Amino acid sequence: MFTKPVNVEDYRALAQRRLPKIIFDYLEGGADDETGLRYNHEVFDRYRLMPRRLVDVSKRDIGIELFGRRQAAPFMIGPTGLNGALWPKGDILLARAAERAGIPFVLSTASNDSIEDVAAASKGDFWFQLYIIQRELAEQMVRRAEAAGYSTLVLTTDVGVNGNRERDLRNNFGLPMRYTPRLIYDGLTHPRWSLDFMRNGMPQLANFATADSSNVEVQAAVMSRQMDTSFSWEDLAWLRKLWPRKLFVKGILRPDDAEHCIAAGADGVILSNHGSRQLDTAVSSLEVLAETRARISAPILIDSGYRRGSDIVKALALGANAVLLGRATLYGLAAAGEAGVDHVLRLLEGEVDRTLAQIGCPSVTQLSPDYVMSDGSRPATSAPSVRNSVAA
Ligand code: FNR
Repeated sequence: MFTKPVNVEDYRALAQRRLPKIIFDYLEGGADDETGLRYNHEVFDRYRLMPRRLVDVSKRDIGIELFGRRQAAPFMIGPTGLNGALWPKGDILLARAAERAGIPFVLSTASNDSIEDVAAASKGDFWFQLYIIQRELAEQMVRRAEAAGYSTLVLTTDVGVNGNRERDLRNNFGLPMRYTPRLIYDGLTHPRWSLDFMRNGMPQLANFATADSSNVEVQAAVMSRQMDTSFSWEDLAWLRKLWPRKLFVKGILRPDDAEHCIAAGADGVILSNHGSRQLDTAVSSLEVLAETRARISAPILIDSGYRRGSDIVKALALGANAVLLGRATLYGLAAAGEAGVDHVLRLLEGEVDRTLAQIGCPSVTQLSPDYVMSDGSRPATSAPSVRNSVAA
């Protein structure tokens, strides 16, 4: 085993070492046969970078502007549930790390620290992710996020039903965790995690905690009962009226849906297959990026499978405004808490910066499709990049 992690994959190995198997499987697992997990990584190999030489890259800038707001790097920490199962106060630690790095943090509906607690703990740019839940509950959460100062709402559209995550089924994973002999053995063989867990107790689904549901079991039941598979374009229009600030729709994998979102009043879309935790056989978000960019000029964020600075550079070149980090920062959190998240962010910043230097591009805002060769044909898309022409 290495002594000093030098990349995201090293943090993945450290996270696996510290976490009980049942928790690591929850973090890592995909749906069904997990073919999509591999696909999300392998797809990056189909796109290769074409370095431009004799360009002055002595000064480089990896910062971007989104809706007139500067962020120090072209990525943000995406929404993930149950961060508190990886490290106590995981949501707050992630929010603070994002603030230090000058990037946004997206809090999940299924967070373990509440909307209000995260807002109170961070002065950065924090966004709230909303699952499609029953209207009344959704409205309450949206109003809470507005009152607490969240700048942006992310509506996740790919979890009407949960993905078939067979690792979790085999492990009998769910909230609250049941103290089976297997879980106890798992805990005993991962003492550092278990000590933290015993000191801090079972993570709560904090946004569902109310006077009559202060126990985790009730909260988990409320959340799963309230998921709504009937949500459609009319409901998006309803949400648009309800939320006065920036609105992204997450889980989009079709250029026509992206167009539809913008026509319905969304400010941008997030191309995502949910890190392949939902539909195992879905396309990769990277594959639909260029075509989506050709159809809309609004901001496009993207996630699913990003582990290297060069992955991020490829997506920006093909038209994304920024990348959401999912497991990458969670590996840092699970391995080493706040310091681990800080280090993962610094590693990715360094990798993006080094990639820019090596391809002869002084700024991420100057990336364009002609830096990318896809499957042997150049350029990756003939569609013009309109990303830099919009006041995103
Ligand atoms: C997620 N994701 C997710 N998305 C969301 O909108 N709300 C959520 O609560 C969660 N929860 C969640 C938990 C865990 C453990 C993971 C790994 C992911 C999906 C997440 O926002 C993002 O789309 C993927 O993580 C991106 O893929 P990578 O980067 O993890 O491969």
